[in-house]
Order: sequence, then structure tokens, then C-alpha cells
Amino acid sequence: MRNQISNFIKNVPKAELHLHIEGTLEPELMFKLAKRNNIFIPYKNVEEVKSAYKFKNLDSFLDIYYQSSKVLITEEDFFDLTWAYLLKCKEDNIVHTEIFFDPQAHIDRGVSFEIIINGINNALKKANFEFGISSKIIMCFLRHLEEDSGFNVLNDAIKHKDKIIGVGLDSSEIGNPPKKFEKLFNKAIEEGFLTVAHAGEEGPPEYIWDCINLLKVKRIDHGVQCLKDDKLVEELIKKQIPLTVCPLSNVKLCVFDNLKNHNLKKMLIRGLRVMVNSDDPAYFGGYLNQNLIETHLALNLKLEDIKNLIINSFKSSFLDDDKKNEWIEKIN
Ligand code: ADE
Ligand code: ZN
Repeated sequence: MRNQISNFIKNVPKAELHLHIEGTLEPELMFKLAKRNNIFIPYKNVEEVKSAYKFKNLDSFLDIYYQSSKVLITEEDFFDLTWAYLLKCKEDNIVHTEIFFDPQAHIDRGVSFEIIINGINNALKKANFEFGISSKIIMCFLRHLEEDSGFNVLNDAIKHKDKIIGVGLDSSEIGNPPKKFEKLFNKAIEEGFLTVAHAGEEGPPEYIWDCINLLKVKRIDHGVQCLKDDKLVEELIKKQIPLTVCPLSNVKLCVFDNLKNHNLKKMLIRGLRVMVNSDDPAYFGGYLNQNLIETHLALNLKLEDIKNLIINSFKSSFLDDDKKNEWIEKIN
């Protein structure tokens, strides 16, 4: 049965809704880009990089994540990064992906918005043409920065509305509440962007409430802290607001001490619209199939549970309804 479920996971068409493209930078590519761009990185080899990937919380990860992102300079770099992830999608049978990017992490180093968006978008177009993989791009605001800086990149995004479906909120959560970005999100909505936000990864349930009420989000990224607040759970179920859960990420960042203690199954049983995603797979030990397989084994998820998780990801995607139904029918 275990093998049967693992095979099902590998072969079924899947969607991914929570994936930071910068978080797919594998150490091998990091070295290649560092050399190409003559950028210093503080590691001698791949083993040394991997042994540095021991995190005690979100912030300890983000320090390394932003540091490593500094090797990304040219349009070709962003293309190569995205293309490498799309090859993983093909391998994992991910047929639709909605990816985050963090422009402020690059613009502040002198890389232009156009270089970033064109590099990413050209790789996505090529994967659509060659592999039939569909995709959406979501631009994230860095919540440790001020709202003004967010307005600057929102103005850039407005010029590229044809490529960007929505805006999100990521980076250091605790101490950077959603209400810091209420005006920015209102402006983004006025401009026609959909909104999502990281909340309840490490932060309290109140941040999830504020994302729903102030930022008008269509999805909550992570949201695993919601079980601390019964009223919030009721609201999330009533409105069927999707929670893009990332199990291996949560263990790597010590949100849960062990995958066996992850609350994904409890959330699923309560009727929350949850699904599995990989977040920053180059840092957290695996891409989507790995996340699904390890979570299935740790939580004893049944075939029906896996099916529900995968159907939830298509339902919660920003695909149009016809396309969503087409994939859901295929899975059933
Ligand atoms: N940026 C990249 N990965 C992130 C995560 N898991 N939480 C918040 N910001 C992030
Ligand atoms: Zn994330």
C-alpha cells in the first residue's frame, strides 16, 4: 500500500502554490552563478553549503537565503534559476505552478525589475511551450522593509501586469504585522492584483485574521498556527480560504520539532482547505513529491487524503474554473 501511494504521488498531475523561486537555488547553481558573475560566496564547496543549512527559526534561514540570492545578477541568471525549477516540475509531474519572487531583495542590490521579471517569465513561457506546464507569477513584498519600498516595487509591477497575477507578503513575520501593509495591499487590489500573504507560520492567529480582513487575501501561506484559535478555524472553513502548507519547511525552521508532530492531518480532518507545497526546496530537503511522500509516511495519510490535498491545490489555484475542473476530473 505504501508503494502504491508513493507511486500515486509521483504519477498524479499536481499543482504547486507556495514556491519562492529564489528558494530553488541549488548549491551547484549558486557556485556556477558566483563564478559567472565574480561574486564571493562564503563556502568552499557544496558539502559546506549543505552543512550551513541548519536553521533554528525563520530569521536564521532568511539570513542565508538573502545572502545566497546575491549571485543572481543578470536576466540569464533568473532564467537559469527558473528553468532548473521547471525541470524539477517536469520530473515531479507538476503541471501548474504559482511562483513567488522577491524583487526588493534584488533591486536593493542594483538589479532592475525588468531583468528579474523577464528572466523568470521567459523560462515559464518556454516550459509552457515545451512541457505544457502552466504558471502564474506572484510578486512578494518583504515585510521587514517599510511600506514605502513596497510602493516602489508595486509601481514596477503595474508596468508588468500582463505577467504578474498577484502580490504576496513574505520574510520575517513576527513584529511585522499585516496592518503595516494595509494601504499597499489596497492599492494593489485597486490595480487589479489578487492578494495572498504569509501568515501564521511563526506569527499568531491575529496575523491571519488581519490578512483576511485588512489585506483581503485569497489564500494564506502556511497558516499552521490557526489551530490555536477556534473562531479563526471556523471562519477559514466557512469561507474555504486555502492554506498553502509546507511541511518540510516547517520542520526545517523548527515550527514543528518533527514531521510526525505536524498538524496537517488535523487541519485536513477539520475541513480546512489545505494542500502541500515545497516553499524553498533547495534549502528544506525536497521538492513537492518529497514533501508529499514524507508527509504521507510521517502522518499515515491515506490515498483519499492525498487526493484531497492535490484536488485542494487545483481548487485553490488562480487557474480559470474550466481548467481547474479539467485537472480535478483527471485526478478523480
Ligand atoms: N521567504 C522565503 N521563504 C519564506 C518563508 N518560509 N517564510 C517567509 N518568508 C520567506
Ligand atoms: Zn514561503
